[in-house]
Amino acid sequence: MRMVDLIEKKRDGGALTQEEINFWINGYTNGEIPDYQVSALLMAIFYQDMTDEEITLLTQAMANSGETIDLSEIAGVKVDKHSTGGVGDTTTLVLAPLVAACGVPVAKMSGRGLGHTGGTLDKLEAIPGFQVEISKEDFIQQVNDIKVAVIGQSGDLAPADKKLYALRDVTATVDSIPLIASSIMSKKIAAGADAIVLDVTTGEGAFMKNIEDAKRLASTMVRIGKLANRQTMAIISDMSEPLGEAIGNSLEIYEAIQALKGNGPKDLMELVYVLGSQMIVVGKKADNLDEARTMLKEKLASGEALELFKQMVARQGGDTSYVDQPEKLLTAQYKFEFLAEKSGHIQKIVANEIGIAAMLLGAGRQTKEDVIDPAVGLMLHKKVGDYVKVGDILVTIYANSKNVQETRKLLAENILIGEEFIEPVLIHDIITE
Ligand code: URA
Ligand code: CA
Repeated sequence: MRMVDLIEKKRDGGALTQEEINFWINGYTNGEIPDYQVSALLMAIFYQDMTDEEITLLTQAMANSGETIDLSEIAGVKVDKHSTGGVGDTTTLVLAPLVAACGVPVAKMSGRGLGHTGGTLDKLEAIPGFQVEISKEDFIQQVNDIKVAVIGQSGDLAPADKKLYALRDVTATVDSIPLIASSIMSKKIAAGADAIVLDVTTGEGAFMKNIEDAKRLASTMVRIGKLANRQTMAIISDMSEPLGEAIGNSLEIYEAIQALKGNGPKDLMELVYVLGSQMIVVGKKADNLDEARTMLKEKLASGEALELFKQMVARQGGDTSYVDQPEKLLTAQYKFEFLAEKSGHIQKIVANEIGIAAMLLGAGRQTKEDVIDPAVGLMLHKKVGDYVKVGDILVTIYANSKNVQETRKLLAENILIGEEFIEPVLIHDIITE
């Protein structure tokens, strides 16, 4: 088999066979096929697309390119949740212990943030001592003991995806639906859960800028999951404004603890309940979504979810005094207020630009090598639809430098105030096939 023939076939709109896809993925993973040929094939896929069958074969080949995690030693239906990314997305931190408190085991591997998006691992590491690198045995033991663990992705999970993603990043082939779908689902399938609940974000802060593309990505991933025998569903959620109020690592841990105490922002809690209900139904702990939602609310009100979060922090080496006294997380040296310059309703808070404003303070990475400052970030006091008067505090800037000019400029340009009342929409659709 020759790589050049695969490139030509795809260039002319053909569909690749299982043998051809395995030849490409195995050859690229072990270094026999060069970057330039794979680049050409990726660009051909970008233009010619792939059939569902090709995407499923590609996903399976990538999932099988390295280690696959066996969670069969954990009793019950293991449910994973994955978000395609956003700004201020504190969901996993609240959802994992809350769903676990309802009896569904959550064995979750999370990622780090890059660019304007945050990553759950960086947030958890804002708790002094918290370890995200844990052996597979300890991971499984922890989920068996307390039903919840959130750790970093094992280094050898889907190595084909790691190489392909780096190549896509520099060849303008990231935003291709078959390539995104196979990239995400290969990692989810290799990570071993029985069921997968996907949060496909759409809007300025997300990969998918419009709802139609988000739906196509969601239904592609749902079909791949089912073909791989994983119960899979997706919700399409809005990421045109940041989620919740906090953006930044310590600040989001603070927000998560408040949420677990019953004081979470409305949009964050709604997303937690929508995703959580789905996870509990697929995890077979409730018969329907209403029953599941009631269960989630009870476990939040009883304090059991907060207690599980604290147990998870303790098991993973974190200092639990930060859970008992979350004010200890607020250590930035300076706090600046950003005020409204006119009265009216908030029309827009452009998520990706606000994510960049937080990144510039040190809350995120511009390049993979950047070191994060856990203390810094933004706290939004108003959200889309709120009425504000001149001089109201819109945002508190948590900084470790007095030089916050760039952040202020981005806030001024990207929080739009006008006459009209805008009703924000959080959940656009639910995709089950
Ligand atoms: N997230 C992934 O893991 N892969 C993509 O291709 C895009 C988003
Ligand atoms: Ca948030």
